[in-house]
Amino acid sequence: MAILPVLASFITIFSAMESAFTRLLMHWHRSENTRQMPWKGIKDPYKIWLSEIILQQTRVEQGWTYYERFIKKYPKIADLAKANDGEVFKLWEGLGYYNRCKNLLETARKIVAEYQGKFPDSYEDLLTLKGVGPYTAAAIASFAFQLPYAVVDGNVYRVLARYFAVQLPIDSSEGKKYFQQLAERALDQTDPAGFNQAIMDFGATICKPFAPTCIECPLQQHCRAFKESTVNHLPVKEKRLTKKKRNFNYFIFEFKKKFLIQKRTGKDIWENLYEFYLLESDESINWDQLAILDFLSAQLGIHGAIVKDQSALFTQQLTHQQIKARFIPIELLEMPNSLQKLDWYQKSKIAALPFPKIINEWLSKTQL
Ligand code: ADE
Repeated sequence: MAILPVLASFITIFSAMESAFTRLLMHWHRSENTRQMPWKGIKDPYKIWLSEIILQQTRVEQGWTYYERFIKKYPKIADLAKANDGEVFKLWEGLGYYNRCKNLLETARKIVAEYQGKFPDSYEDLLTLKGVGPYTAAAIASFAFQLPYAVVDGNVYRVLARYFAVQLPIDSSEGKKYFQQLAERALDQTDPAGFNQAIMDFGATICKPFAPTCIECPLQQHCRAFKESTVNHLPVKEKRLTKKKRNFNYFIFEFKKKFLIQKRTGKDIWENLYEFYLLESDESINWDQLAILDFLSAQLGIHGAIVKDQSALFTQQLTHQQIKARFIPIELLEMPNSLQKLDWYQKSKIAALPFPKIINEWLSKTQL
């Protein structure tokens, strides 16, 4: 019973936005997506499978050369199946996670022995292969056979979490189920392969983990995270709650003597406290003037701005996490559309707001 309201709200929210999402994404893919990769557009299930196994836990740039070496040495699955184990492991050297290589050989041999060297063409049969989980099965089923299965990888989580402003953690079982359903509903039934390729490429080139290019984004007008200025807070990870070290980059935007301040919401530290515009990054960033201006322009469409300062790192120790924060005051010469609807406070009103300790510490050392 409890699932019904959740499902109902899911369907309502999605129905209103789904057609725009799929339509705009597919339009972007057909007219602007120039990302090149050697396995792209290929229908050969062997090559698709090989590329997907290599790309698990591996960056595209690194996987690319390995893929080409493998295809050159083993152009057909039968070539791989009859190769000597040591030789294949040697070719895999440097990619890590050697279980993937072991499964690669086992699956190649099974397909030759049990399927006459022809890849199975159903999602269920693909799932029985060693090393092939729901993601890889959906990739092969859609790319090779145009079957309507949606891939859900890190790119897909990020794009959907932001566009639909989903707060469920992507590493929770509830979140995983929700995102899988969302991706299936969004899937373009007339072109599952194109849709899956589009959403992954979109996540890799526009809706990037760090400094996404929201300003050029063709989905921007409908993106809930962009509207609510939560792009940098999504997707949410449960694990983050216990993460040891976090890096906060605070941009203190000032326009006509008013300051942009936001209330923290969501399941995280400092709920209901206030803060400046936050960019959380995996690593501590050594900003320079150019990097700051690039970031402001690409993500927020800010062109006229003066970087007034860049603080040293401030640290706050919480029970389960250590926060390191840098503060970067920016004077805006014009109001960008992206920030216009957010809350701007006069200096005299700021002292009354509750801030986390680390922000108060910086404020006490600063002349706003
Ligand atoms: N990552 C893994 N598979 C991919 C694909 N087919 N396209 C883009 N990124 C990917």
